[in-house]
Amino acid sequence: MSKLHFPILALTAVMLCSCTQDVPQYIIGVSQCSEDIWRNWQNSEMKMEANFHEGIDLRFTAANDDSELQSRQIDSLVESGVNLLIVAPNQLSSVSPAIDRAYDKGIPVIVFERKTDSQKYTAFVSADNYEMGRLMGEYVVSRLGGKGKVMEILGLKGSSPADERHKGFHDAIQGTGIEVVATTQGDWTEQKAYDMVMAYPGNLSDIDLVFAHNDRSAIGARNAFIKRLAPDSSDFEVHVYDLKLPLFCGIDGLPGEDGGIQQVRDSLLDASYIYPTRGDQLLRLALDILDGKPYPKETMLTSALVTHENAKVLLLESNEVVRQAQNLDKLQTKANGYLEQLATQRVITILALILIALLVLTLVLLILYHRSKVSAQRERVVNNLWNMEAPERLRVGEQGSGMDVKSENVKSEEPIVEENSPEEEPAKEPLFIIRFKDVVEARLADSDLSVDDLAAAMNLSRVQLYRKVKAISGASPVELVRTARLNRGYQLLVKGDKTVSEVAYEVGFTAPSYFTKCFKDEFGISPSDLC
Ligand code: FRU
Repeated sequence: MSKLHFPILALTAVMLCSCTQDVPQYIIGVSQCSEDIWRNWQNSEMKMEANFHEGIDLRFTAANDDSELQSRQIDSLVESGVNLLIVAPNQLSSVSPAIDRAYDKGIPVIVFERKTDSQKYTAFVSADNYEMGRLMGEYVVSRLGGKGKVMEILGLKGSSPADERHKGFHDAIQGTGIEVVATTQGDWTEQKAYDMVMAYPGNLSDIDLVFAHNDRSAIGARNAFIKRLAPDSSDFEVHVYDLKLPLFCGIDGLPGEDGGIQQVRDSLLDASYIYPTRGDQLLRLALDILDGKPYPKETMLTSALVTHENAKVLLLESNEVVRQAQNLDKLQTKANGYLEQLATQRVITILALILIALLVLTLVLLILYHRSKVSAQRERVVNNLWNMEAPERLRVGEQGSGMDVKSENVKSEEPIVEENSPEEEPAKEPLFIIRFKDVVEARLADSDLSVDDLAAAMNLSRVQLYRKVKAISGASPVELVRTARLNRGYQLLVKGDKTVSEVAYEVGFTAPSYFTKCFKDEFGISPSDLC
């Protein structure tokens, strides 16, 4: 690769990298307190929304309901260089220090759905958990006709929705005939609720309704009730209609399969409350904050109760939303495929253009080189018939050629070098060579000219002639004659008034084609190039 090509290629590589690499504009860390159907739904909404914006790198973590783990995850998200943090804190206080650390480093923090006990956040987004609990309490009062026994399955201790839902529910049933006769932990998980109900020491048979703080723990509690009421049957054998099961109410009301809306429609749950995920809205808020646009500090999401009356319609609607989202996702995947193809094509096009540019450059350089070579050659050949310099080594008394020319039969009346002062004048051409040239030039058109003819004309034997010529010029007489013929041919062609054939004959070639071949070998161009 030429020296010239290297910087061009390096520059191009840099350009290519800079135009094909997807540099994320914003890195957004999403710290989820757990991993479950509700969080997955929300994450996928965020991802979907991110597709509509350029250069967003979403980094998700999930802490499995473990506040310490979540704190560490937040620290490492910050360390990884996120521009903004979205956090659903597992518990009110234990995750706050990690959030504060991020906030103090100047990273905007959106706290969503669960609260911290610190004021260090940029924005807060949630539905009203107290109101949700209260509305569920009012529903239960009316559903049980103002009187009945309730079991409450609590969300994780110390997480704000658990406290608020509890408070709202109790405020609503206060002063009514509804009595919470049993309370146990569910910690937001189906398994925990199941285990706790299974282990519940009290009598479950007089419970009219179970209010669980979310749908998953309501389902866990329901499974445990079935197990406890019909301990010997497998899940498949139990005809739940034969059992005197209480009503089960939860919160979340997710769309889609296994979501709360469908569970209400299928009477697994009696009611739920839609706890909106709104991942798309969260991401848009994050981008507004990062873009420096105005944004609300507190956002309260509104929502609705799901009961047997509206579950069918809500399910139809939510299924439609899911379907559209899936279509959008497919469309997005396709669009991403096209974009990738486009990027590849762009790289190929740029590479092809570079290649063409390099080829053109090489061609231009070759042409320039050829031209300069030809013009140097033209100058040399037009002014000189012989490719011989007066060889310095032939100056009188000088050794080093490996041959003492004088002792090589140079006749004394033909001194090889005339005495001169080397400092003042350049070495003169030996008389012998001057005579040799005269003889050759006089018979240049003679195609029959032989070495014997030349030797005779120089009064030397053939061998003597060869040795002297070789010693002085480095070439044999035959080679010198051939060069002279070709040089003369070159000179005649440059004049431009003769054809190649005429010139070939004029310089002693019997066949123009052979002249052309020798000419090409000597000068690298065809004789016709000079006409
Ligand atoms: C999801 C979840 C929901 C619940 C909410 C409370 O992780 O457990 O089921 O409504 O969190 O924060």
